[in-house]
Amino acid sequence: MPKEMILSPSLLSSDFSNLARELRDLEDAGLSWVHWDVMDGSFVPNITFGPPIIAGCRKNSGLFFDVHLMIEAPDRYLEDFVHAGADLLCVHAEACRHLERTLSEISRLGAKPAVALNPHTPLQVLEYVLPQVEMVLIMSVNPGFGGQTFIPFSLEKIRRLKSMINQCNSRALIQVDGGVTPDNTRDLLEWGADVLVSGSAFFAHPPYRQRLETFMQAAGEQLKIP
Ligand code: DX5
Ligand code: ZN
Repeated sequence: MPKEMILSPSLLSSDFSNLARELRDLEDAGLSWVHWDVMDGSFVPNITFGPPIIAGCRKNSGLFFDVHLMIEAPDRYLEDFVHAGADLLCVHAEACRHLERTLSEISRLGAKPAVALNPHTPLQVLEYVLPQVEMVLIMSVNPGFGGQTFIPFSLEKIRRLKSMINQCNSRALIQVDGGVTPDNTRDLLEWGADVLVSGSAFFAHPPYRQRLETFMQAAGEQLKIP
């Protein structure tokens, strides 16, 4: 069983016309993480935001900025995102020609390195980099949009990843992103997830404190509000 679940609401489903208020409301509701979906219109068929928006929001937020880079060749922008205030940078294995170098560079810049895998990408690409990552993101939908349906084989992938992590004594957390709801929260935790990203199933149900409590109840006693 996981130690403690972290819920990381995905701003992709938030009110973009008032991001500062959204971030404040999340913090007031007791959340500690927030998930930023950065999309470049090339790696995924959608475009969102970049370092200037994150830097602007950083000024008034104490949340842990969990930045999911759905962009080609992310090496070009690592420094910009760290300077903007990313606490964790998650790159896609499919977008990195030299994954080990990219992860080392994120650490050198002072952020936590993480790697994401698309649904079809085998876990084997992680074999040699698991000891150096703080988190692995298992995409449970094809990236690019919120509101999609959870792909069922992701559960088995989480279980196998958990066993790989245990085998190499890695401290990597397992994050799951896409189609996460209170209904599948319990299963995800039992199969090995530590960090759940939720966009549409979170932001469509204010107030956020109450929604957090709904996820907590779904998780049993594993989620503690700070
Ligand atoms: C999808 C993004 C997700 C997305 C999840 O490409 O990486 O973070 O916001 O949205 P839901 O929770 O609605 O599936
Ligand atoms: Zn995401």
